[in-house]
Amino acid sequence: MLEIEHVSGGYRPGVTVVHGIDFAVDSGHAVGLIGRNGAGKTCLAQTLLGVLPAHGGSIRLDGTDLTRMRPRERIRHRLALVPEGRMVFPQLSVRENLEMAAFGAGLRLTVDRLRRVEDIFPLLARKAQSRAGTMSGGEQQWLALGRALVQEPKAIVLDEPSLGLSPVAIADLAESLLRIRQQGVALVLMEQNPHLLQRLCDTVLLLDQGQVSSSVDLSTEDGGRLVGAAYLGTAAD
Ligand SMILES: Nc1ncnc2c1ncn2[C@@H]1O[C@H](COP(=O)(O)OP(=O)(O)OP(=O)(O)O)[C@@H](O)[C@H]1O
Ligand SMILES: [Mg+2]
Repeated sequence: MLEIEHVSGGYRPGVTVVHGIDFAVDSGHAVGLIGRNGAGKTCLAQTLLGVLPAHGGSIRLDGTDLTRMRPRERIRHRLALVPEGRMVFPQLSVRENLEMAAFGAGLRLTVDRLRRVEDIFPLLARKAQSRAGTMSGGEQQWLALGRALVQEPKAIVLDEPSLGLSPVAIADLAESLLRIRQQGVALVLMEQNPHLLQRLCDTVLLLDQGQVSSSVDLSTEDGGRLVGAAYLGTAAD
């Protein structure tokens, strides 16, 4: 279980952008955070992974406190990030990108690990030797997710994975993420687009100016309030 308690953070010391964020995600579940441009999604994603230092609060994964760890150590403790804008290595092949990601988690890209990823994203097998920079945005998103998966994560933080994808590609992405969730991975999905959240999440928190202003329980309500949250920045209770 990933437990986020009262986490605050920002891009610079003394300038706090996200405040007092609390949530928990069990393995095999997904929590969403919906917020408009500038709401603090990327700041929170980077704080959870330790790319930015937390200004306060704690981040625990299966009881281990990750809060003071460097990003690489957090990855080795099985927390993975799919960053905003994919951030694949454009000059390297698909296979090399996966090897680098496994290496970052202290793992070798064994046949088994590769098969698990290529089973969910068959395109990554077909394009194993292609340079990542020659692939479409959607294909690079599969690779970005593949890079997280070879790290054998217990939890994955995804920063706007639907950005720039067509509706068809977003629907494909949702199905792939469902399979990953069903394998017991916990997902934290930061999004502006409500569609992916509606398909995947039990609970969606509305992130507004760096704070959680309200939450939507998708097991008991339809996603109507999410659409308001996405477009207006508010979700009336
Ligand atoms: N590198 C940076 N240094 C300082 N402040 C930043 C930096 N990047 C973003 N900010 C500011 O921090 C706040 C949160 O931005 P952030 O990029 O985390 O939000 P976001 O929800 O990811 O937005 P988007 O949907 O545009 O990706 C905004 O006020 C933004 O102007
Ligand atoms: Mg962002």
